[in-house]
Amino acid sequence: MDYLKIEGGETLKGSITISGAKNAALPIIAATILSDKGVTLTNLPNVIDIKTLIKLLDILGAKVKYGEKSCIINNGTINSTKAVYEIVSQMRASILVLGPLLARFKECEVSLPGGCAIGQRPIDLHLKALEAMGAKIEIKGGYVKAEAPNGLVGTKIIFDKITVGGTENIIMAASLAKGTTTIINAAKEPEIIQLCEIIRDAGVKIDGIGTSELTIEGTDGKPLKFNEIEIIPDRIEAGTYLCAGAITNSTITLHKVNAEHLRASMNKLEEMGCSFDIDGDSITIKPVKNLNSVNIVTTEYPGFPTDMQAQFMALSIITEGESLIEERLFENRFMHVSELNRLGANIWLKGNIAAVHKVEELYGADVMATDLRASSALILAALVANGTTNVHRIYHLDRGYEDLEGKLLSLGAKIQRCKA
Ligand code: UD1
Repeated sequence: MDYLKIEGGETLKGSITISGAKNAALPIIAATILSDKGVTLTNLPNVIDIKTLIKLLDILGAKVKYGEKSCIINNGTINSTKAVYEIVSQMRASILVLGPLLARFKECEVSLPGGCAIGQRPIDLHLKALEAMGAKIEIKGGYVKAEAPNGLVGTKIIFDKITVGGTENIIMAASLAKGTTTIINAAKEPEIIQLCEIIRDAGVKIDGIGTSELTIEGTDGKPLKFNEIEIIPDRIEAGTYLCAGAITNSTITLHKVNAEHLRASMNKLEEMGCSFDIDGDSITIKPVKNLNSVNIVTTEYPGFPTDMQAQFMALSIITEGESLIEERLFENRFMHVSELNRLGANIWLKGNIAAVHKVEELYGADVMATDLRASSALILAALVANGTTNVHRIYHLDRGYEDLEGKLLSLGAKIQRCKA
């Protein structure tokens, strides 16, 4: 199994280009099911999760043509509506095919995604909302079996809790439903905004884009015709490299980013003492000698993203004083704590709050990645640890970071992919 070997202590310098957002690309790939024509996607990140979802469409009968960071997906040839366990178990986001498959084909079976390392992650809100739109849903043999023989019907959906995937599934389902769907307490992440925009550009009337109340007028089963879609920049990848600049006290420029989407992370970095130059779609982070501690509470966009929690924890290890980090979205998203402590960090956990105390030095060690963002936190810590750190189980990393070692290497880090 591959692992990453990192020699800490290098100052980084230079510029890199940020890839397309995995979390924007996934729902958009699922949304292509709403069309029976070819859809061209560009700025696709070259990461495993994207390949997994495209493979799922391929199994359903879609025709896919790959280009350089792009592809054309034609779902006109879909001949199965069963999203099998073998794929869904590899990636929870496969549940995003549920809404569009049901809306277009009036029936589907999608394997239950189950829990994952960061928590239970139920899909009850997705199912409840589809039932409100007239779907009959049964859970049998580990599958969600859904049918709506007369098509889905628009209605008022009130999400008890803000859910990114749930909002996306219902936006897609509502696009082909009969009549108007209103989603109250919708998520409003940039990835949701892009999904709404591409569906709106395909002719569906959507009001309230970017707000917590969306109104969608469905086409009553008529498939959509999408324009070419360019995936937005990955705000989590960009935030991770800003943290790499901050932790190594370096000047790094990121190209092809949207600073607006990074506001919550940049605000925290500014509180810590960092400063930025923003020039169009480029951001440069400038070095700062002593970082201040910060308190962080993860919450929905535009608040501080849970997907940046682990990286900021790595950063807090070297800041003066105590940082308190509270995780509000996932119940078990602190698996990186014990691994960071193996490198010499001083982090205490109480419930969903981590207290991070400054240590003078970190020491390289063998550590294990436990989930996607935990992997990048270990790499950030390794960049400033004395000696060599080997980060194992990096298949988590490959799910969501395009060529992380290549990008860090080009910035001057000593990092190498090795085979165990
Ligand atoms: C998405 C992101 C993930 C990010 C998360 C929160 C993708 C592919 N993944 O995940 O990177 O960390 O948003 O920003 O975009 N919940 C329920 N019932 C449901 C659905 C969700 O209780 O039916 C709960 C979840 O367990 C969690 C919270 O709601 O505690 C938020 O989850 P959700 O926003 O749905 O996250 P995902 O869409 O899975």
